[in-house]
Amino acid sequence: MLTLAVLISGTGSNLRALLDAASHPDFPARVVVVGADREAEGLAHAEEFGIPTFTVPWGSFDSREAWGEELARELDVWTPDLVVLSGLMRLLPASVVARYAPRIINTHPAYLPEFPGAHGVRDALAAGVTQTGASVIVVDDGVDTGPILAQERVPVHPGDTEHSLHERIKPVERRLLIDVVRRIATGELALTG
Ligand code: GRF
Repeated sequence: MLTLAVLISGTGSNLRALLDAASHPDFPARVVVVGADREAEGLAHAEEFGIPTFTVPWGSFDSREAWGEELARELDVWTPDLVVLSGLMRLLPASVVARYAPRIINTHPAYLPEFPGAHGVRDALAAGVTQTGASVIVVDDGVDTGPILAQERVPVHPGDTEHSLHERIKPVERRLLIDVVRRIATGELALTG
């Protein structure tokens, strides 16, 4: 049984999908802890499933490195097999990536390497593309530059707002994430740095 630590910053809809999938007895992974860089709304999903949570408030540290060290200390308590960034809106410091790589994956609402970074949906809209996508990657010490594990195209509709496009992308992200976690858990998908 693959143990997962999931890190979020926001509503946690991707986390929720993972929790729902993991609640099925035949799913080969389970979430053991959920962490956030703030009092994220999505922590409520973990509480609903009785899963421990922790927060490492970004604003309480005077550097990314100090924040990352505390995050790593919290993660080490749970010794997860895999760390899943699912809506964590922070770049992990190199020290944390080095500690867990390649056992860290991330979901991104674009068809990488297109539109990396914190505003992938907004950037796709601004670029006027007719299609974007969703990607699941291995986290390395770049910005969304790690090996791509899964990705799928998502159409942009005329009149799309950032919200409407992001809400069309998220279900694809969730499906890709759950499938990637399943394939890692069964050994079908090997993680490389
Ligand atoms: C997801 O699209 C994720 O890829 C991006 O932020 C969004 C988080 O959504 N980093 P949610 O918090 O899972 O609803």
